[in-house]
Amino acid sequence: MILVGLSLVFVVICACYPAYYKSPIFTYKGIWIGFLESFSIIQAIKKVAFEPFLNHIFFFHISLLIILIIEHSYNNALDIEPIITFKKKTRVKKLSDKNNQTVIGYKHHKEISTSDNAKHIFVCGTTGSGKTVLLSNYIESAIKKNYPMLIVDGKGDTGEGSILEIVKNMRGNRKLYIVNMSDILSSYPYNPFKNATATIVKDMLINLTEWSEEHYKSNTERYIQRLVHLLELNKQELSFETLLEFFTPDRLIELSSELVKKELITKQEHSNTLEIIKASGNIAVNASARFTTIAESDIGKIFTKSGIDIYSALSKNAIILFVLNPLIYPETTAIMGRLAVIDAKKAVSKLYTERKERVFFIFDEINTYASPVLIDLFNKSRSANVTCVAATQSLSDLDFACGEAFREQVIENCNNYIVLRQNSAKNAEEWAKIFGTVEGLSVTYQLGDDKPTGRGSARKERRFIYHPDEIKRLKTGEAIYMSKDTDEQAEIKVRKGF
Ligand SMILES: Nc1ncnc2c1ncn2[C@@H]1O[C@H](COP(=O)(O)OP(=O)(O)OP(=O)(O)O)[C@@H](O)[C@H]1O
Ligand SMILES: [Mg+2]
Repeated sequence: MILVGLSLVFVVICACYPAYYKSPIFTYKGIWIGFLESFSIIQAIKKVAFEPFLNHIFFFHISLLIILIIEHSYNNALDIEPIITFKKKTRVKKLSDKNNQTVIGYKHHKEISTSDNAKHIFVCGTTGSGKTVLLSNYIESAIKKNYPMLIVDGKGDTGEGSILEIVKNMRGNRKLYIVNMSDILSSYPYNPFKNATATIVKDMLINLTEWSEEHYKSNTERYIQRLVHLLELNKQELSFETLLEFFTPDRLIELSSELVKKELITKQEHSNTLEIIKASGNIAVNASARFTTIAESDIGKIFTKSGIDIYSALSKNAIILFVLNPLIYPETTAIMGRLAVIDAKKAVSKLYTERKERVFFIFDEINTYASPVLIDLFNKSRSANVTCVAATQSLSDLDFACGEAFREQVIENCNNYIVLRQNSAKNAEEWAKIFGTVEGLSVTYQLGDDKPTGRGSARKERRFIYHPDEIKRLKTGEAIYMSKDTDEQAEIKVRKGF
């Protein structure tokens, strides 16, 4: 009876275990071998019933099964064509706390999740591969769990399947602020300068545009910092309007004199202001043309004193969504996106000191507004309970937007990768390298007259865990997930929750 029971267990293992893994080829192989084994073992059992002692056929099959199991264990280390190809790629942990997880997809109907306190998640997939659908899982999760959320959509679609539609449909009774470059008239007003210190305002204005000359940049920085400091002392509410109103040297001198009269600054401080104006005034005024262009453009209508900033929206437990529009406003989109990122950084430094609840920041199509500030934001977010999920089409897009160093920093600052299809061979190969390699053994056989000669070679080599071709062949909604936070990896079918 024991032998019969054992035989049946082996048959079940043989037929079902490979099916647990993904490749249909070895699943079929497994089932076939399972069938063959069950047939043979039934034969063997018959014989065992008559010959209760040693049975050659029975032990032959037991040995075969043991070889298969050993072969499976060593499959990762041996690069020979195995009898059954078990792919030992999936490493998925059991969820410990479902309330702290976001389901992103499935592996054989088993849910695959990322932890809500993941040390940032980087999503990469060619156009139409399913990035937005994937991000919608984080949006839904944050809405259900009442997490405050910032979303920046760098592509700015507004139709079906767009982030705007997804958020509107999923929001329930959550407060939602939409800063919308695709519909300026209905956009919620935005004031990134609200709650900002002199240094942050300086960062915001300086990072709006590129600076080729360090000399111009540093002089303008100095001037702006002084201006904001005086405006703050004068209890002036900061906005684009106020900053531009007081930007000229004449207005700044007036402001400084007024503060002396009010005894809010000393005469010495006033003469420091005059000195700064003398040294940097002309350069700063020339540079201010950059900011005036934005304030006076169509987009300028979005920036008003009464507007919301990211920190205020998050403190109200709301969702704040930026819909950018790179098609109609390519330059202003980059500016608006960068402003939002600096504003997010400001929010993070305040949240760090004030609250400990989880916050989600979701950045779609980061290449349209990429800047080194984004890396700074990733860095600062970790300790402020903010989880960033950033998506782009390819690594090359990041190189193009901000240089190769920026791409490396994004990879370094995210511990979780979800990679959808990559069309370009170069990008697929880059990802394969990031996913890493395992050590294998390459075995060759020598043939003579179509028969093995018994000669061959074996050498150790490293091979990709996920081959570039696998990354190029992913279908829409399929992804490779790898977490350095939890040491998990799996090929998944992304969940579509709408
Ligand atoms: N997991 C999925 N299950 C079912 N359909 C999906 C899935 N992922 C994506 N799709 C479908 O594929 C199409 C493209 O998806 P999505 O908009 O998410 O791609 P994207 O990578 O964001 O594209 P783009 O770069 O153009 O923004 C949509 O019609 C979407 O419904
Ligand atoms: Mg998309």
